[in-house]
Amino acid sequence: MKDTVSHQAIEYLNYLKEQGISHVPRTVKRQAPPPRPQPASRSTAAQSPPHTPGQMPPNGADALPKPALSIPAALQPIANEIAACHRCPLAATRTYTVPGQGPLQPDILFVGEGPGADEDAQGIAFIGRAGKLLTKMITAMGYTREEVFLGNIVKCRPPGNRAPTREEMADCIPYLKQQIAIIQPKTIICMGATAARGLVQETLPIGKARGHWREFEGIPVMLTFHPAYLLRDPRKKKDCWADLKAVLTRLDKAPPK
Ligand code: URA
Repeated sequence: MKDTVSHQAIEYLNYLKEQGISHVPRTVKRQAPPPRPQPASRSTAAQSPPHTPGQMPPNGADALPKPALSIPAALQPIANEIAACHRCPLAATRTYTVPGQGPLQPDILFVGEGPGADEDAQGIAFIGRAGKLLTKMITAMGYTREEVFLGNIVKCRPPGNRAPTREEMADCIPYLKQQIAIIQPKTIICMGATAARGLVQETLPIGKARGHWREFEGIPVMLTFHPAYLLRDPRKKKDCWADLKAVLTRLDKAPPK
């Protein structure tokens, strides 16, 4: 057990070194924060599994995304900052931070709400059930997952799949704004009310706002449903597809036959 832990520690330190982090304070002794009351959860989705003591990394300043996640070099400093972020209470309960992934200058940046249990466990955006549906939507549009950027309003999982609070969003959105300035997507698709409210201050409910164009820093923003909502109400997929086709038209593209 001791060997496994020190092996993990060495692996993790090597990973930090690759990320350009050459110093780790010697006296860091992580103390579990006192339990805080959590707002009511929106679903009964599984909570993250508890961490085995000594397993790397636990939540906290070392919640770097897994090395498997390839992030463009220009975005790595923001990913590092996110990994060390303690601006809001979500830092205390996250496993991995989820900075988002994809190429620079993509045709589309998809913006969701925040990581769910699967994303929290892996540090990768949209890999759970909603992510699988999103992948189908991306493919139907004629793209691969790797050709678009997948991001979120908040980068840490709100416990119990609750929506992020106004304060958590306000603390986290500067990261997304910095990312967008570097990513420079041609279009942005905000999926769900949280993304629409967070990025373009939408005040209409998403059922009314969807299908409408907004703008963020000169970039056209389409509002549509979140894939998790489409899983709950598949009848709304038709509307969402109309919104995605409007994005393709704006990009001078057509869905594949
Ligand atoms: N839902 C989101 O909004 N974002 C994810 O990354 C996964 C699920």
